Amino acid sequence: MDQTAPLALSSPAQGGDEFLWGFWYPVLRSNQISGRRLVTSTRLDVPLVLGRNVAAKAFALRDVCPHRAFPLSLGRYDGQTVECSYHGWRFDAHSGQCSLVPSVTEHSKLQCDRIYAGSFPCAERDGYVWAYFDNPEGRSPAACPPPAPELPKYTGRYRIVHLSATLACSMDTAIIGLMDPAHGPFVHRSWWWRSRRSIREKQKSFEPIPQGFRMSPHTPSTNSAPYKLLKVYGAAVTTQIDFVLPNMRTEEVRCGKYWFTNRTTITPIRRDLCQLDFCAAWNLFSWFPLAAPLLHFFGKRFIAQDQRVIELQKPGLTVQPRMMLIDDADRQARWYFQLKSAYLASQRNGAPMQHPLPGPVTLRWRS
Ligand code: FES
Ligand SMILES: [Fe+2]
Repeated sequence: MDQTAPLALSSPAQGGDEFLWGFWYPVLRSNQISGRRLVTSTRLDVPLVLGRNVAAKAFALRDVCPHRAFPLSLGRYDGQTVECSYHGWRFDAHSGQCSLVPSVTEHSKLQCDRIYAGSFPCAERDGYVWAYFDNPEGRSPAACPPPAPELPKYTGRYRIVHLSATLACSMDTAIIGLMDPAHGPFVHRSWWWRSRRSIREKQKSFEPIPQGFRMSPHTPSTNSAPYKLLKVYGAAVTTQIDFVLPNMRTEEVRCGKYWFTNRTTITPIRRDLCQLDFCAAWNLFSWFPLAAPLLHFFGKRFIAQDQRVIELQKPGLTVQPRMMLIDDADRQARWYFQLKSAYLASQRNGAPMQHPLPGPVTLRWRS
């Protein structure tokens, strides 16, 4: 593949802007649903209605009544079944199975239990409600879904922080921003993170992992201020960063018995709008009560810097949707597109996914 040729991000051959089905995606924060309240959300262009049953177990239905497409979220919910407010059909909140069609008489042959509203398997991890998107209709997946993703945590006691933002761009544009080392010293230039003068040559080893790639465990570069703080512990610091399909970057920092992990997911809301969810957990600085508020404060500013770049990039992308991916600095973005098209190809032909990375690779760039 030509390493400098502009890449049309909308090209179907690259899997450009196509949604990936057969994965868990975070849909809401757990604390957004409580009691008998129905809450709406949209992910992968699918309108959803979420709630909890009497045992507080979360559910996600397609917010479209199978009868005449009325929003189920406008109906009544008794803790077990959702009643559509157009003709009163009732659906089990978890399975979507219809249990009542009020208009039918006892002479009717209609088997209402064969009618289903679309439903998506749900799981709660790390303070998020995740839904498994096997297909846009919310038909039951053919096989049992794999376990939902969970942020690694290495001790029973830890702190956790959540941040989120909406990004006015496609999933692909947001994801390649997530794995773009070269923008750090320019976009995230600030006294508390990077200075432009801090640019230096980096050499990182990568290895393939299932449906993704790993920046192998290494000593983090000392030109980012937050890593300097870890020196107080005196132990060797290592960091490892994974990217796995469809949308997930996970970083693990270890320093003796101390650890800090974080995960960023980019979930498409629509083709041109994404949700960024960032979650970090740690057992470092447990004596310092301001650690969580400070991470929240600086994390918000950091994400806002990326959000601004995306806003400013938007008009340009409408007249020039082709982007260049050059050299080692953009290699991870290229791998993302290759992983995505390999996954889509395996979905189409039912064969195992061909991993685009043949083995360990060393990349070099300046950042
Ligand atoms: S549209 Fe929902 S019951 Fe008719
Ligand atoms: Fe960034």
